[in-house]
Amino acid sequence: MISDKLQEAINRQINRELYSAYLYMAMAAYFDHLSLPGFAHWMKVQVQEEMAHALKLYNYLNERGGRAVMAEIEAPPARWDSPLACFQAVLEHEQKVTGLINDLMDLALAERDHATSGFLQWFVDEQVEEEASVGEVLSKLKLVENTAGGLFMLDRELAARTFTMPAGVTL
Ligand code: FEO
Repeated sequence: MISDKLQEAINRQINRELYSAYLYMAMAAYFDHLSLPGFAHWMKVQVQEEMAHALKLYNYLNERGGRAVMAEIEAPPARWDSPLACFQAVLEHEQKVTGLINDLMDLALAERDHATSGFLQWFVDEQVEEEASVGEVLSKLKLVENTAGGLFMLDRELAARTFTMPAGVTL
């Protein structure tokens, strides 16, 4: 059985993952409005990733005899100054999430809950990937400097992103 303190912390993380999905949905809407469907698609794949993260935490709580509780989800911003500014916001957001995962891991270790720290290692590794994939798009965006031709080329590239449900995550 998981402790109340860890259960609360995991529930807070579920809320942050759902907020992340909501934020990326808002970013998808921003790109769709700019007629950049490839960028919007990239964000929609990100929405699926975040939903999978929330579900993974939800399933784990149930497995450990805990209870997932849904709280209010904060409204994300609706617009950004440019595609580059938007992706900078993605990187900052992911860095914040990495910090939250590290805090969660610290709590699991402090409580000597080895099952939870083992489980959370997946999220630690996932954050490395998340930050790397955003960083890659950000570097390319810096190269094209919001020029129409460059954005068009990048839009086509981002349209090819695919989503794979992480192992063991089911609806
Ligand atoms: Fe679930 Fe992008 O962190």
